[in-house]
Amino acid sequence: MVILSEWLAAQLDKESAEPAYRQLLQLMQQAILTGRLAPGSKLPSSRTLAGDLGVARNTVLHVYDQLSAEGYVISTTGSGTYVADTRPDSAAVSTPTPASAPADDDDDASGASPRGDMSMRGQRLIDEAGVSARQWGAFMPGVPDVAEFPARTWSRLQARLWKSANHGLLTYAPGGGYRPLRRALSDYLRVARSVRCTPDQIIITTGIHQSIDLAVRLLADVGDRAWVEEPCYWGARSVLQSSGLKLAPIPVDDEGLNPREQDLRDPPRIALVTPSHQYPLGMVMSLARRRTLLEYARQHKVWIIEDDYDSEFRYGSRPLASLQGLDESDRVIYVGSLGKLLFPGLRIGYMVVPERLAATFRTGVAELYREGQLMQQAVLAEFIMDGYLTSHVRRMRTLYGERRQLLIDAVTRHFGDALPVMGDEAGLHFVLGLPDHADDRAVAAAAYDAGVIVRPLAAYYSQRQERKGLLTGYACVPHEEIEPAFATLAQVIEEHTFAKPKKLRRAG
Ligand SMILES: Cc1ncc(COP(=O)(O)O)c(C=O)c1O
Repeated sequence: MVILSEWLAAQLDKESAEPAYRQLLQLMQQAILTGRLAPGSKLPSSRTLAGDLGVARNTVLHVYDQLSAEGYVISTTGSGTYVADTRPDSAAVSTPTPASAPADDDDDASGASPRGDMSMRGQRLIDEAGVSARQWGAFMPGVPDVAEFPARTWSRLQARLWKSANHGLLTYAPGGGYRPLRRALSDYLRVARSVRCTPDQIIITTGIHQSIDLAVRLLADVGDRAWVEEPCYWGARSVLQSSGLKLAPIPVDDEGLNPREQDLRDPPRIALVTPSHQYPLGMVMSLARRRTLLEYARQHKVWIIEDDYDSEFRYGSRPLASLQGLDESDRVIYVGSLGKLLFPGLRIGYMVVPERLAATFRTGVAELYREGQLMQQAVLAEFIMDGYLTSHVRRMRTLYGERRQLLIDAVTRHFGDALPVMGDEAGLHFVLGLPDHADDRAVAAAAYDAGVIVRPLAAYYSQRQERKGLLTGYACVPHEEIEPAFATLAQVIEEHTFAKPKKLRRAG
């Protein structure tokens, strides 16, 4: 015991801001856990230890009480305080290792690599992750101009709502989301997207990622097949894949999804499509293909997930109607997001499910993710009902349309018609085509180093890359920054794409 007192005295720092009680407690816990104080050994009396350490006896008494309450020691009236035996029962924790158990040879020698800790699907998710550390700046695809968001209006609505905050807005919120928001969204979607729905069919989520995740968990089993467009959004692919679905990439052409004979012979459980604006190539699924897909889904009981992520932004024509609006057989789960319309960090999205599944999805969303954020949803509901969503989208459509044109002008100035701009006049990005011999990943990496963000088309293919190109976003780039940023990108493209950095044909 003398040794214990000496050790404690050497460790205690009387000058420290940490109270002596807390220091002593932690030191004794450490001594017991590491075996310095062996199970069964008797602790000195509180009076003796207090004297040895020069602390108040009450301090030691408190420490002993706490150690006893947490099970480190056992106090027996009259006979003293003993260290409890809390060593793990070796029989209970060791599992027989099957002779065939694979060695952990994925771990590197330092133990720094987590690979051996991960599931196969977790490992795949991380290996193929596409998320970028930078989410802002020229020419970040898929990001709206958050600087244009009417923040003062939002904050005024928010301040007003907080004044009347009540338990209904502040507790967990099972039920598919804030009812007035679901009503406002169903009115909006009926008019703006020709979606057939009632407020009951709307489920509020944190965005398209979560909507897809929920749909897959409720409608498919591990090992089921899912069609994805080839190429497609890597984020949606990751969600499906990590839920244990087997992905079947289906080619797209100018009319959208174009399944081959062999694809049709093996119907999937889920088909994830972007009919109004194929992501990332930008074409629209033709009416004939829409009808064929809906009929195929009806016959083979396929669930179609329609990802309608940015359809409000069409510059040459009116927004196109949704696929869901044509569906007579209740096979479409429609998913959308406020991220591109307002600001991505809002993390509010919605799904429209067939009426007979509405109650199931309401329970599912509450059970899996514990809904909340009703206050944000209430602000959004007012924002929509007061007409701010429609006017903001209208204003952004004009702004982004101008930026798109400025960027096309810059492409033409630098490259003439040598590099095609692919995709309909819509959305927040286009694909700048590169020659077949180009390495679009290398170009994107070099552009990133030069301060310009573009994404290589390669990242969106899961099998054979049909075309080379760069996803180039214009929505979040102020007009005056477009030409200088593109000049930087053009320089990188010239250096990486054309064997000798030769002078390219210039417009005019
Ligand atoms: C096609 C597509 N779907 C969905 C998303 C993400 O949606 P959310 O942010 O609502 O999860 C993106 C984001 O870029 C996208 O491009």
